[in-house]
Amino acid sequence: MDHFLYRHGELYAEDVAVSEIAAEVGTPFYCYSTATLERHFRLFDEALDGMEHLVCYAMKAASNQAILKTLAALGAGMDVVSGGEYARAIAAGVPGDRIVFSGVGKTADEIRATLKGGIRQFNVESEPEMEVINAVALELGVVAPITVRVNPDVDAKTHAKIATGKSENKFGIPISRAKEVYAHAASLPGLKVIGIDVHIGSQLTQLEPFKMAYEKVAALTEELRAEGHEIKRLDLGGGLGIPYTRSNDAPPLPVEYGQLIKDTLGHLNCEIEIEPGRLIAGNAGIMVSKVIYIKEGEDRSFMIIDGAMNDLIRPAMYEAHHDIIPVAEATPGVEKQQYDIVGPVCESGDTFAKERVMDPVGADDLIAFRSAGAYGAVMASEYNSRPLIPEVLVHGDQFAVIRRRPTLDEMINRDTIPEWL
Ligand code: LLP
Repeated sequence: MDHFLYRHGELYAEDVAVSEIAAEVGTPFYCYSTATLERHFRLFDEALDGMEHLVCYAMKAASNQAILKTLAALGAGMDVVSGGEYARAIAAGVPGDRIVFSGVGKTADEIRATLKGGIRQFNVESEPEMEVINAVALELGVVAPITVRVNPDVDAKTHAKIATGKSENKFGIPISRAKEVYAHAASLPGLKVIGIDVHIGSQLTQLEPFKMAYEKVAALTEELRAEGHEIKRLDLGGGLGIPYTRSNDAPPLPVEYGQLIKDTLGHLNCEIEIEPGRLIAGNAGIMVSKVIYIKEGEDRSFMIIDGAMNDLIRPAMYEAHHDIIPVAEATPGVEKQQYDIVGPVCESGDTFAKERVMDPVGADDLIAFRSAGAYGAVMASEYNSRPLIPEVLVHGDQFAVIRRRPTLDEMINRDTIPEWL
């Protein structure tokens, strides 16, 4: 459920007409709903009721300061994957002891900055990384809390570009080598092993792969404890998928996912961390764009819009489907039309949908891409010198621009001219 619904014949974001926002900020833009962000966070939080837990929002999904503050106010922790994300989380007021640091390529500088600023734990992905964290911790005279990310070799049954838990993926250490690696970690004085981390992929639409991975983590917990390691925290990653269409085969709900966690890991009395990103932000955001032209091709109609692949890259990159709807509700019974929906960027890959059957629209009409809140604005670029599009946050009957559209001069003046020119 989200808060983008038709009312009085047009699309509303909570209690604000989307057309009103478009009139003020221009198109294209991203628009997020506070109520949906909050609702999704609470669904996870409540799903883990009865277990000691922390929901660490995977801020790679949408990392605007206003979104982070909204979630932090509910008690969210953050899962960060770069020094930049860590700095954003701190700037949004998230305390270091609620920030976990994941990712295969943490640099010594990033590790130093986070150890100085405060960190809940590093999710370590390799032995060379472990050595560097140890060295930096010793240099600073602190002890770094760590989990080791294990790769359980489980097929997440998702798009190949976002599966992470198979042995061919770059993530984690093979679970078969876990004992050795934990023994190595325990021998390093700058590290304190506190748990295990696993994340098998994103947009998972079934519980079975989670179950297989978590059962392996449960067995490993007992084995490592038997070897004398203190395993008190399990970070179970993110990955629960969202419905991108209104069809019936919706992915499992957070409450079912929470029950699976209780069933597979509850007996271990560990503190549980999860790192959902997409499910919190995905359906809490839309991208609004305007139709520039309807161009009749030989055998198809092209809907040319002012949004492009640089603004929302998911369809070009993952063949992802986003529902696309007119902002002005169609008259009931009107005949649907078929369009190829494309942006102005000079590549054929700048196609959002082919042969999409939807309510008819014409030049200057507004359309909305649903489910665009996660991996939308954060993956945008200025390709074709198209400035990054603004982000707007709605809260009840109010809205605020939370990142404005840069002027063309601002974009151009980031370049500097060498003295010989
Ligand atoms: N934790 C770790 C270690 C991750 O790598 C990810 C996502 C998450 C948590 C959050 O997963 P989520 O709950 O959002 O599924 N750009 C792609 C998705 C990439 C996901 C990368 N890692 C897309 O647009 O589909």
